[in-house]
Amino acid sequence: MNRLHSLLIFVSIGLLAACSEPASQSEAPPQDPFAQLSESERELVRHGEARARSCAACHGPQGISRNRMYPSIAGLPSERMSELLEAYRNGDKSNPLMSPQARGLSDQDIEALAAYYALLPAAP
Ligand code: HEC
Repeated sequence: MNRLHSLLIFVSIGLLAACSEPASQSEAPPQDPFAQLSESERELVRHGEARARSCAACHGPQGISRNRMYPSIAGLPSERMSELLEAYRNGDKSNPLMSPQARGLSDQDIEALAAYYALLPAAP
C-alpha cells in the first residue's frame, strides 16, 4: 500500500510537470530559424548567402525588391525556388535578364540559394 501511494505521487508530479511545459514554451521568444538548423544545413545556407550576392542587385539585398521589374524572392519555399531556377537554367522559362543568371548555377548553388532565400522573411 505504501509503495502504491508513493508511485501515485510520483505519477502525479510527472503529470504536473508535463502539463506546465507547453505554457512555459509559449512564453519563450520566437526562435531564430537559422539557430534551429543542423551544422550541415547551416553550411548550405552560408553558401547560399554568399552566392546570393549576385542576385541582390536586382532582387534586393534581403530578397525584397524595390523595383517592380524584379519579383521579390524572399521566403519562397525552397522547392519552388529550386523549380524556378532549374526552369530558367534549362530554358523552360526564359527572360533576358534572369536566364543568364541561372545558366551559371550548379545543382549545389541552386540547393543553397533555395535554402537561404526560404529563411528570409517574405515582403509584407
Ligand atoms: C539582372 C537582374 C537579375 C539578377 C542579377 C537576378 N535576377 Fe532573378 N529575376 C530577374 C527578373 C527580371 C525576373 C523576372 C523574370 C520573368 O518575369 O520571367 C527574375 C525572376 C526570378 C525568379 C522567379 C520569381 C518568381 O516568383 O517567378 C527567381 C526565383 C529568381 N529570379 C532568382 C534569382 C536568383 C537566385 C538570382 C541570383 C543567382 C537572381 N535571380 C539574379 C532579374 C534578375
